[in-house]
Amino acid sequence: MNATPLVSPEPLPSVDALIGGLAQHGFSVQANGVPPDVARSLINYISRVGADAFHEATVGRGEEQQQNRFVRRDRIHWIDERNPELACWQDWTESLRLEVNRRLFLGLFSFESHLAHYRSGDFYRTHVDAFRGEANRIVSLVCYLNENWSEDDGGELVLYTDLGPVVVAPAYGTVAMFLSEEIPHEVKPARRDRFSITGWFRLNTSSPDRVDPPR
Ligand code: OGA
Ligand code: MN
Repeated sequence: MNATPLVSPEPLPSVDALIGGLAQHGFSVQANGVPPDVARSLINYISRVGADAFHEATVGRGEEQQQNRFVRRDRIHWIDERNPELACWQDWTESLRLEVNRRLFLGLFSFESHLAHYRSGDFYRTHVDAFRGEANRIVSLVCYLNENWSEDDGGELVLYTDLGPVVVAPAYGTVAMFLSEEIPHEVKPARRDRFSITGWFRLNTSSPDRVDPPR
């Protein structure tokens, strides 16, 4: 007979540390914070869809949306959350969402994410992740997918925190999590191809005349 566990498993230590840092300082960074099968499935997905599946990123959205090569140069690819190929990414980020809500009472409602490709010379100037007048992105999550990243390769994420600037190398498996509206951050110019996935946990800010997050 199969025994059904009565208590849910304890979160992995990396999840624990990520959420602890977020609660204490508004950000946290973990080397090897991404479960290996999640990182592997993202790498496989990128090699399958190829660089042509990435397009120039835009800043703002709706009517405000404009291509802004001064602010950012990365190319992005939005993830379809129903794609079974990336089920383990969806499962892991869903478990993070539930754990953040359980521990910090943030009431995070949904998640959206895109892969990003920075070619040599690409950057993203200092910004915050929430759209002006739409305080719905609450927690940002960035995971890096670059094997053998060295200091000479540049492309660091810099978080401007109350504790001072925190420099994060985009090395394989590293995770950064931070409050989307509170922590300005930038990506320094990369000197080789740099892949990451960025996601946002959002509140439900729908009103009777507008569904947000949009479907
Ligand atoms: C973003 C972002 C950081 C990174 O996509 O908004 O800040 O290191 N990304 O890729
Ligand atoms: Mn950002």
